[in-house]
Amino acid sequence: MNNFFPLTVKGLKKTTSDSISITFDVPENLKNQFIFKEGQYITLKKEIKGENVQRAYSIWKAPYENELAVLVKKVENGVFSTYANEQLSEGDIIEVMAPQGNFVPELNSTQSKHYTLVAAGSGITPVFSILKQVLQAETGSTIDLFYVNKTKASTIFENELSEIENPNLSIHRLYTKESSSNSSLEGRINKDKCKILKESNLLKINSDEYYLCGPEKMIFDVKDYLVSENVNESKIKFELFTAVGSDKVEEVATDFSEAQITITIDDDDFEYIYNVDKADSILEEGIDQGLDLPYSCKGGVCCTCRAKVMEGSAKMKVNYALTDQEVEDGYVLTCQSVPTSPVVKVSFDD
Ligand code: FES
Repeated sequence: MNNFFPLTVKGLKKTTSDSISITFDVPENLKNQFIFKEGQYITLKKEIKGENVQRAYSIWKAPYENELAVLVKKVENGVFSTYANEQLSEGDIIEVMAPQGNFVPELNSTQSKHYTLVAAGSGITPVFSILKQVLQAETGSTIDLFYVNKTKASTIFENELSEIENPNLSIHRLYTKESSSNSSLEGRINKDKCKILKESNLLKINSDEYYLCGPEKMIFDVKDYLVSENVNESKIKFELFTAVGSDKVEEVATDFSEAQITITIDDDDFEYIYNVDKADSILEEGIDQGLDLPYSCKGGVCCTCRAKVMEGSAKMKVNYALTDQEVEDGYVLTCQSVPTSPVVKVSFDD
């Protein structure tokens, strides 16, 4: 169920000049709801200047640290991120949804794997959680972290990363606006840089798993490069922080002009008529009809708007969040879903 729970802000800490860590107090009666896995995120909801704002942020703590904390980087014109960085205070209440997300390795203390983690900027957030949990839970595993930033000073979690003394971790810092003694570690990561890093024996193409988080271009460049080196796609997981470009959008054609949609949420059913020519998605239309539905990115990137199709069918324009299994089980991202049958029932409760 995609419910929100009111949580009190327990701690705030500036991590760089434009990013802040928010730690939440999770009361005893909600502890089970907020059990999380490394790499997951939570969706926060707050009324800011009369507008109901929902945003998803990755948890940067590892599960073994037993603390719920997210990182919010201020983005230009970002309503929530500006509020969090400039106005939020300890003791404030924020509505928070239980942890979600599939950017999660399956850890097992008996296995010894090699992980390649690639992050840029605030993309380090879920990667940092994964990194710490792997080092703690799989003592036989090794990690190469490639971490791109403008400068050392603007690097989120630089201090925390420097403090980790573990021979199983190798950190490769790349700066785009600072020179490095190793030229292969200068500049952003694209396909050419992947080739250079591989030729320098830094980027391994025989890693067991790859976790990528950062801008869309970096993610797809690294992924395409790895696939071109015959890395099996199933080994590559990525987390996008922003909606993807329109060239990735799949057009969905229907032969009816209106569909009857029923939405189940919090044990209640709501119905509305979906106008195929005018409406954008089942989620958007539901919100326009006055329903309080969960969402965050509205770009097919998080899975806050996940619901299950109970009757009829719906197709997603993009899906960067659901696993193949979830799709097979009938789940859709409602922000990307359009009806492909004249009657569709979706449930946010299942
Ligand atoms: S709101 Fe993020 S995938 Fe729909």
